[in-house]
Amino acid sequence: MPPRILVADDEPQMRSALRAALESSGYETTLVSDGRKALQEAEKRIYDMVITDMKMPGLDGLALLERIRQDNLSPNVVLITAYGTIDAAVSAMKMGALDFLRKPFAMADLEAVLSRAFEEPFADGTPETHQVFASRQQEFREIVTSNPTFKEILYLAKRIALSDLTVLVTGESGTGKELVARLIHQESRRARNPFVAVNCAAVPDNLLESELFGYEKGAFTGANSSRQGKFELAASGTLLLDEIGEMPLALQAKLLRVLQEREVDRVGGRFPIPIDTRVIVTTNCNLGKRVEEGKFREDLFYRINVIPLDLPPLRERKEDIITLSHYFCEMYCREIGKPTKYLSEEAAAFVLDYDWPGNVRELENAIQRGVALSTSDRIEIYDLIWDARKKRIPTIGGVGRPAETVSSPKHKVEVEVGTSLAEMEKKLILATLEQTNGKRAKAAEMLGVTVRTLRNKLKLYRAEKDAQDSKDESQKDHT
Ligand SMILES: Nc1ncnc2c1ncn2[C@@H]1O[C@H](COP(=O)(O)OP(=O)(O)OP(=O)(O)O)[C@@H](O)[C@H]1O
Ligand SMILES: [Mg+2]
Repeated sequence: MPPRILVADDEPQMRSALRAALESSGYETTLVSDGRKALQEAEKRIYDMVITDMKMPGLDGLALLERIRQDNLSPNVVLITAYGTIDAAVSAMKMGALDFLRKPFAMADLEAVLSRAFEEPFADGTPETHQVFASRQQEFREIVTSNPTFKEILYLAKRIALSDLTVLVTGESGTGKELVARLIHQESRRARNPFVAVNCAAVPDNLLESELFGYEKGAFTGANSSRQGKFELAASGTLLLDEIGEMPLALQAKLLRVLQEREVDRVGGRFPIPIDTRVIVTTNCNLGKRVEEGKFREDLFYRINVIPLDLPPLRERKEDIITLSHYFCEMYCREIGKPTKYLSEEAAAFVLDYDWPGNVRELENAIQRGVALSTSDRIEIYDLIWDARKKRIPTIGGVGRPAETVSSPKHKVEVEVGTSLAEMEKKLILATLEQTNGKRAKAAEMLGVTVRTLRNKLKLYRAEKDAQDSKDESQKDHT
């Protein structure tokens, strides 16, 4: 496969000149007319190089470079500069651009830049830089496990990757559902094509349909042009529908049709569009239960439940707590250039004993923090969960809570022996929200859980309260 190059320039002549030059040398090119479109494109597919003009409307070349470096979207960014933007080009180099081309440039200049990036001839295969990067760009983390059940699941995942069957990945928050979904994509014949993820819980209900299926110009007020939905964007690739349990019922019916017919109807569209997209769905709620409650369509449930992969929580795979702690210690020490250090015996006992409601994500946060804070050759308990405000180890929760988010005024949680864990958790969550003035993102960060987890808990508390209120009400009626 020849290297792919994304060209962003607002001048049509420059775009076509670059395309002619690059394609005659065997590169595959995609052209866009501004920085924002370039960013969208780079998020969708892997580009071995992005060549961008410096001055563009909207997002300019420097801002684009910054985003690409920040999100690790492409390994090579080359800026095209005109007279007067050379200073900016120098700062671009400092920001990690591969090179810059000064306008007007000769073919030889372009070739020099290309050969820097792709030293190896690529006629007989993908160049080295690309392969390494491909996995990094997709944030394809190694999946580390010593647990037999988890290994079995990974084995199954690799086997079913070769088919086009819909896969349902379930498990608590932070157990690695997305990682497993990416593994399936990577191991499939679709690996070189896009992997697109949509979090159904994060998109407002009224926008989810057009987000997934796209829309035609004029379909609704504000639809000034047609747009592809995620199903189309993931063409020949894989679409991950995250948090499928949160999808509104009306849309569930439409999704079922898409899965059965393999075609999508854009909002306001007159003809269905055939699609070749593999679908993986994940959820951390009990879909079977949601079916019973009438919140999830039974037919859709059976349709997506062809191959369920249920990831066990971390507390049920104690061996992984140790294996993953080691792995994260090594990873984060390497990342900050410290010699590798591991957990002390007490800290190891502590992590083994802890419940890890946020699963691997929470453990990873705790270790990352432990590595950063530790001053000796071992990571101690207080490095993992040190609470700067209290200058002591908190007795409940708080693992992975970054020190800087702990600030006054201080809200405390009093718990008495005899309190249930659920009650204690609720108290801590409410007190944390009080401390953050109701800011959920901040509270979730302090608690070491995702915003979604927090929201689900709050929903549950509200439902409990409503149930209690109506019970009280009916009791009043009887007296
Ligand atoms: N077995 C594993 N090996 C290495 N890293 C892991 C493993 N499992 C999870 N992680 C890491 O933990 C974090 C959470 O994983 P992931 O996003 O896949 O979880 P999730 O189940 O999708 O969570 P959520 O329900 O909150 O979306 C990621 O940073 C991921 O890289
Ligand atoms: Mg996820």
